[in-house]
Amino acid sequence: MEIILVEDAVEGGRCVADLVAETLSSAGSGGATLGLATGSSPLAAYSEMIARFERGEMSFAQARAFLLDEYVALPREHEQSYWSFIRENLTRHIDIPDDQVFSPDGEAEDPVAEAARYDAAIRAAGGVDLQILGIGSNGHIGFNEPSSSLVSRTRVKTLTQQTIADNARFFDSPDEVPVHVLTQGLGTIMEARRIVLTATGASKAGAVAATIEGPLGAHCPATVLQMHPAVTIVVDREAASELTDREYYRFIQQQKRRLEH
Ligand code: GLP
Repeated sequence: MEIILVEDAVEGGRCVADLVAETLSSAGSGGATLGLATGSSPLAAYSEMIARFERGEMSFAQARAFLLDEYVALPREHEQSYWSFIRENLTRHIDIPDDQVFSPDGEAEDPVAEAARYDAAIRAAGGVDLQILGIGSNGHIGFNEPSSSLVSRTRVKTLTQQTIADNARFFDSPDEVPVHVLTQGLGTIMEARRIVLTATGASKAGAVAATIEGPLGAHCPATVLQMHPAVTIVVDREAASELTDREYYRFIQQQKRRLEH
């Protein structure tokens, strides 16, 4: 894993946007496939991507995007649906064609069949080139809550009380947070060719330490990333505060910079 320690969310956003830029420019004529996360963690990266697009430095015209997850039974026009979230916070501000932004249909009559369809659609599109991830305070990625199979595919999950409480801030009350979701599985996410996870703030410190330094296991689903050959983890000072080998990661980062210059 490459661990990048940054001062704040803005610097973290620039690191993620750099990886997106590399992905876009190295894509063949078919264009790049981005995996997009919702939640507050990637917002700084999305602002940076929008700014680079507006300055003419980045174009998403040939790209497509797959979202990680969606709430079940929440109308997609609801402002907290992930379908709405990604449009509001990223895709309506850039030149990616609207019909190339895909997400699981939370209103599907048969959510189990919808999960299988979505999983197959990602593969049919050739897979994800760069998956952007946040992390839940309990170590979930997408909505793969603790106890998720490390090889799981896209499916219906039940949120933990912790995640419902964490996400209640986006709704008028905790009772309004949907309990069921459709999420790419850990096995699905692991098929992305490159992955970047970004985390900021003290509430993520425990999950970040477990992900990077803890034993691999379903109690902290993000630990599955230890098995991926191309993962970058971008963390600010607070999110990095529980890492035992923080100074070693900083040393590696300095050495890498020296080699580049
Ligand atoms: C949400 C999403 C995840 C996200 C995580 C953290 O529930 N399903 O994709 O990474 O929880 O959210 P935030 O970035 O707002 O802390």
